[in-house]
Amino acid sequence: VKKMILDLDTGVDDALALAYALATPDADLIGIVSSYGNTLVDTAAENSLKLLELLDASDVPVFLGESHSSTTDDFATMEISMAIHGRNGIGEVELPKAARPVEAKHAVDFIIEAAHEYGEDLIIVPTGPLTNLALAMQKDPSIADLIGNITLMGGALVVPGNVTAYTEANINQDPQAADYVFKHAKHLVMVGLDVTLQTLLTKKETQVWRDLGSKKGQIFADIFDYYIDAYDRLDINHDGAALHDPLAVGVAVDPKLVTLLGINMQVTHEDGRTIGDPERLRDTHKTNFAAVEVDVPGYLERFMNYMNIVLSD
Ligand code: BDR
Ligand code: CA
Repeated sequence: VKKMILDLDTGVDDALALAYALATPDADLIGIVSSYGNTLVDTAAENSLKLLELLDASDVPVFLGESHSSTTDDFATMEISMAIHGRNGIGEVELPKAARPVEAKHAVDFIIEAAHEYGEDLIIVPTGPLTNLALAMQKDPSIADLIGNITLMGGALVVPGNVTAYTEANINQDPQAADYVFKHAKHLVMVGLDVTLQTLLTKKETQVWRDLGSKKGQIFADIFDYYIDAYDRLDINHDGAALHDPLAVGVAVDPKLVTLLGINMQVTHEDGRTIGDPERLRDTHKTNFAAVEVDVPGYLERFMNYMNIVLSD
């Protein structure tokens, strides 16, 4: 069975990615790396620790990653993130302080060591900016050819972005890092807005979690309802909120959930646009794949099954 590392900027949909990763039988979650993004990096790490504790998975180590983009420490998008994910990243839901701290090892070193240990069997799923992964690949360039699979939530190929007309939030926060990862990865799958905006969750589904009668179900429903309300309030979508990050985890273990287009990409440094790389576009060997269609009912059914497992007492 494959080994998985999640790199989370633990906001609302990242929390669902964490839950999905715990539930799927197709990969062992060996660690969570923390990133800035939806929240500050310390808050993201603390959220991951708290959520793991809630879900009886305190054996999964959490590593602190970079606190800001490789090119700027200005959090231009923090205000909008907080409006969507709440000031604490998890929908203003207060969870008890985590009983354990983050690991002493830095996220970048954990990624490098795991790449050497598991190689082809390692799946890395970043659902925030790509700062940690790019740094790891730059610190030890040999890992680019070791890591079997990088499946990330980020980018937009055909549909418009969610920060600018061309840019998606995760990529936008560190375009240079993203460009490095896209160009150096051996096998990279981009699960971007093209597909994640199609997989929506509504209060009908969060009610199913409440009806489980468990504390976990009620907490996850409260967290996600905040995000549904924010989508509505901010006019992003009125019929539910996007399952961005858990879709990336789903595709990482089962790429058949989506239609993949082999296209070697670059990320423009100025505005974080994910487009074809003229240098590699005509290569017959593709290292980058963009998800362009998704089996929405199939994915939602699996997602709900896994959530029911993980949220039941
Ligand atoms: C991505 O940005 C973050 O707000 C979400 O958690 C998701 O990873 C969507 O653009
Ligand atoms: Ca995220």
